[in-house]
Amino acid sequence: METAIRVWHIPLSVTATPEAWNLLDAKERTKAERFVRDVDRNRYVGAHAGMRRILAAEASCRPTDLHFAVAAKGKPFLVGSALRFNLSHSGDHAVLAISAGADVGIDVETTAPNADRITHLVLSDRELGAYRRLAPSERETAFLRVWTRKEALLKAIGCGLLRDPRSVTVDVGEQVADGSAAVELDGTIWHLRDFAIAPDTSGCLAANSPIPPISILSIDV
Ligand SMILES: CC(C)(COP(=O)(O)OP(=O)(O)OC[C@H]1O[C@@H](n2cnc3c(N)ncnc32)[C@H](O)[C@@H]1OP(=O)(O)O)[C@@H](O)C(=O)NCCC(=O)NCCS
Repeated sequence: METAIRVWHIPLSVTATPEAWNLLDAKERTKAERFVRDVDRNRYVGAHAGMRRILAAEASCRPTDLHFAVAAKGKPFLVGSALRFNLSHSGDHAVLAISAGADVGIDVETTAPNADRITHLVLSDRELGAYRRLAPSERETAFLRVWTRKEALLKAIGCGLLRDPRSVTVDVGEQVADGSAAVELDGTIWHLRDFAIAPDTSGCLAANSPIPPISILSIDV
């Protein structure tokens, strides 16, 4: 059965307003203060202020009333709420997936890695075979798709990259026309859906519930 999943785009600015800082808790402020570059600090503040505003609207409370904790392998969750969520940020963009019933993971990337140099660290044997059969001009896009799918899936499960990305296959070179796929992992079917929030971005949402085509909501911070 399909469970409602919403995806929000939070455009990030190189500056962070005092209002955004005021929404953060002590842990988030400490983390923000540790960034070396102002631009990274401000993007983090914007992403977390946006996330708090969106989650608070869903939970019918104030953004500062939300309490976060992290599970054993690092996945953040809301204390005292059944809402499940996952955040990803890259460059000027953050994305947030929210669901009341499904486990969700999300990834967005704004830059393409040097694929040929890291395929052996990321791709399963089956993916590597398919990747090598691609024309060189197709490889970057294919790698980015497989990377965002893999990261979204591992974030949905909650282990992130603590689990070897080579141990899961999300299908390089066999993309379904509508950008969706399903993967069985440890007895659970995980659904994947690719999306783009801007021409220079790749993203994927993963959930343990079927995912209909995504309409992306947007908030300004
Ligand atoms: C989690 C991980 C995949 C994030 O990758 P990334 O490309 O840097 O970042 P993204 O922007 O896509 O996602 C970052 C967000 O994912 C969330 N996140 C962190 N750990 C997570 C996990 N284990 N599972 C799901 N989501 C996680 C956080 O909200 C984080 O945002 P924040 O740092 O602003 O709070 C990666 O850092 C990782 O797997 N690390 C290993 C796990 C780890 O070190 N855990 C430490 C505690 S045991």
